[in-house]
Amino acid sequence: MDAITMIKERRSVRKFKNEKVDRETMKEIVSISRWAPSWGNFQVARYTLVDDKKTIKKLANDGVNGFVYNINTLKEAQGVAILSFVKGKSGKLDGGDYITSKANVWEVFDAGIACQTFCLAAHAKGVGTCIMGAISDESISEIVGLPEEKTVSALVVYGYEEEHPAPTPRKDVDDIMRFVEV
Ligand SMILES: Cc1cc2nc3c(=O)[nH]c(=O)nc-3n(C[C@H](O)[C@H](O)[C@H](O)COP(=O)(O)O)c2cc1C
Repeated sequence: MDAITMIKERRSVRKFKNEKVDRETMKEIVSISRWAPSWGNFQVARYTLVDDKKTIKKLANDGVNGFVYNINTLKEAQGVAILSFVKGKSGKLDGGDYITSKANVWEVFDAGIACQTFCLAAHAKGVGTCIMGAISDESISEIVGLPEEKTVSALVVYGYEEEHPAPTPRKDVDDIMRFVEV
């Protein structure tokens, strides 16, 4: 699959086949995700994967603030990647103070790049994903036992697509870009 097709045809998948994705495949996907760029190459993104129905049910019951839409997707999922990041590193050099006005926002920025890289890698390997941001970070941390120095960035449900979703609309390129000369 070429890069342009991969970017354009990745969709958020919310209906999955009743077929497990083996752990080796998921390991390969994370191994590809590691190539995401990051602040200072600190590589703060972390991936905690669950693929048993009992834990996925706990995440559905307590991890999405009762948001029914996400509960229903989680019921379908064959696995969930809990994406997190190590706090307090991005935005600094050599462990000193933050060197930009965005301060620790850069760690969330890193987490976002890692998340999209993970979803694209999964898509390239034939695995569908859906990012979830309507979640309860604290409950999820508790369920999967995330250590203090890390925080949840997103849930990404995964599995083999039941059917490929139709394309979602995009803004016109002229509405989102401009060249300037000053
Ligand atoms: C940061 C972020 C949070 C999201 N949260 C949710 C969510 O909680 N539940 C959900 O079903 N989809 C969620 N999505 C998926 C978006 O709805 C989806 O990406 C968007 O509608 C475009 O569709 P596409 O991914 O198929 O191109 C989220 C996406 C992003 C990037």
